Parts: sequence; structure tokens; C-alpha cells
Amino acid sequence: MTGDQDIIILGIESSCDETSASICRNGEVLSNIIATQSIHTAYGGVVPELASRAHMQNIVPVVDDAIRNAGITLQDVDAIAFTQAPGLIGALLVGAGFAKSLAISLHIPVIGVHHMQAHVLSNLIEKPVPEFPFLCLTVSGGHTQIVLCRSPLDLEILGETIDDAAGEAFDKSAKLLGLPYPGGPLIDKYAATGNPEKFQFAEPQIEGLNFSFSGLKTSVLYFLQKEVKQNPDFIQQNLHDLCASVQHTIIKILLKKLKKASLETGIRAICLAGGVSANKGLRSALQEMAIKYHWQVHIPSFEFCTDNAAMIALTGYHYFLNGKFSSLRTSASARATW
Ligand code: KG4
Ligand code: ZN
Repeated sequence: MTGDQDIIILGIESSCDETSASICRNGEVLSNIIATQSIHTAYGGVVPELASRAHMQNIVPVVDDAIRNAGITLQDVDAIAFTQAPGLIGALLVGAGFAKSLAISLHIPVIGVHHMQAHVLSNLIEKPVPEFPFLCLTVSGGHTQIVLCRSPLDLEILGETIDDAAGEAFDKSAKLLGLPYPGGPLIDKYAATGNPEKFQFAEPQIEGLNFSFSGLKTSVLYFLQKEVKQNPDFIQQNLHDLCASVQHTIIKILLKKLKKASLETGIRAICLAGGVSANKGLRSALQEMAIKYHWQVHIPSFEFCTDNAAMIALTGYHYFLNGKFSSLRTSASARATW
């Protein structure tokens, strides 16, 4: 049942390889349907053209499921929020085109949402929500950022990667270890029974709150080349220790900057977002930091960490409350500042 005063937002996410739709009523998520495109696994990474085609196939059934699971009808929807940027342009255009067409037919407004802003606000989906202001470490396959969030629409990037993202560091290292894409979850799995101190890899010396991960990949590559030359079975014999050591290095790099950001801003409400926040090593290291530095840590459930439309619908809701709508002439963009 929906009341006259309710604000109902349909959210659509299609920036990479997940087609997702969600319904949010007055800031509460009623449904969150995610269709993951498994076709990319065979190619060792996301193939943009295939992603666009899969979005085209998935978008209608996914939106239909989101509407039905929420127990509403299309006529109840007050606005459609869609991921406008950043992402794969062909993939984004499917979501943008669909959102605008549906909005015209329903005579309702559209709201273009910034994907990275939505990742930060995924922390507001589940109760108890973190107190403002909070710091959010967003770690995904495409991005690594530390964001200061003063209110839902007042966000500031304090630091970000100057080359590879944390997820890429996991995936590229995994590839060097002979693991299939996406390698992040496999590194996590093998690391659980490995020695994180066994091997040492290069840590970047970057000023301020920015990150760099490309040196780590090179360090892993040269180390493996040297060892495999002497012992062709080196990777197989040391897989768990290698995974644990790579993971340990990535976590150290991330948490060093997060600690710096907390000290500089005096903010101890700390949030995580993005696919890499599923990493068990990162989660437990963060909990240890929470005890040591009196942080209040908030980590969304996994379905809201990876790409999802619930975060788009919720961000759209806050735009709606502030009267911020997009023109129907608006399009998508592969890159965009906030
Ligand atoms: O946020 P996400 O689902 O998609 C975007 O990139 O936007 O993040 C995907 C990334 C991949 O690099 C994947 O390897 C990584 O998150 N990932 C993990 C884990 N689960 C997913 N990395 C490390 N440990 C995990 N458990
Ligand atoms: Zn994402």
C-alpha cells in the first residue's frame, strides 16, 4: 500500500556489468533486483559491448521484478533515478535511455545520479545509519576514494587513486597468480589460510590522502618472475601465502590513508563502500582499527556494497527532497566530477 504523501523512487543502475533496479519509499528500500552478467568471466574482464547488450536484454525484466517485489505499480512511482556517470558509456546509455523513456510515458521527472556519490550513500540504506559527518572509504574495481560526507548531498573527495583502483590491484595480482577473473574474492579465500608476513611487496610513498597501486602489481610481477625461474612450481606451492601477503599489502595501503584522514579531520565515524569491502581481511583489520582508535565503523551488507540500484534510488530520494531534477535532454557520461 502507498499513501498520497509517500515519495517513491525507481532506481536504475547499469554502469558496468550489473543490471539493477530498486524501489525506495520515503528513503526505505523495498526491493533491489540485481542481474549479474556472467558472460564476462570467459574473457577475463568486462567486455563493454557485451555489457551493453546484456543490459538491453535484462533491463525490462529487472525493472518489472523490482516493481512487483516492492508491492507497488508503475503508476505509484514519483521519479526515476538512474546512474548518469561514471561508467562504461554504452552500458550507461541503456539505463539513461530507458529511464527517460519510461519517465516520459509516466509524466514524472528523472534524476541523474553520480555512481560514486551513490556508493557513499549506500551506508544510509540500513539502520543504524552512521552519524554525519562521516568518512567513507570507497573501494571498487574502478575506484578508490576517501570521501568526507557532511550530509547526503554535501560530499567532498579527500583522496583518490592516481592509477589503479584497489579492486584492480586485487584482480591484476590474482591474474599474475594464475587465478580467473575477478580474482579479488579468490585472493580473499586463499589468504584466510596463508601467512600475510611471508612475502614483502612494494608500498607506494604518495603524499597526502591519494593512493597508488600500479607499483604493487609490478612488484608482484618481478618477484614472481624471479622465483618461478628458479622453481616453476613456486606459485602453486605458495599460493595461500602469496595471496595473504598481497592482500595484507593492499589493506595496509588503504588503512594507512584512512587513519591519516581520520586524524586530519577529527572524524571517527568510518564507513566502507564498493565491492572490495566484501574482503574479510579488510573488514577484520578495520574492526581492529575501530577498537584501537575508537572509531564507529559502518559497513553495508554485501548486496549494497557491490553495484546495486538501491543506492541509486536512495540518492535519488535525497535529490527529490532537495528539488534537484535532471532535464529530459540529459544524457550519460563515462567520466564526471561530482
Ligand atoms: O563495486 P564492484 O562490485 O564493481 C565496480 O568495480 O564498480 O567491485 C568489484 C571489485 C572487483 O575488483 C572484485 O575483485 C572486488 O571488487 N572484490 C573483492 C572481493 N569481492 C569483490 N576484492 C577482494 N576481496 C573480496 N572478497
Ligand atoms: Zn560501483
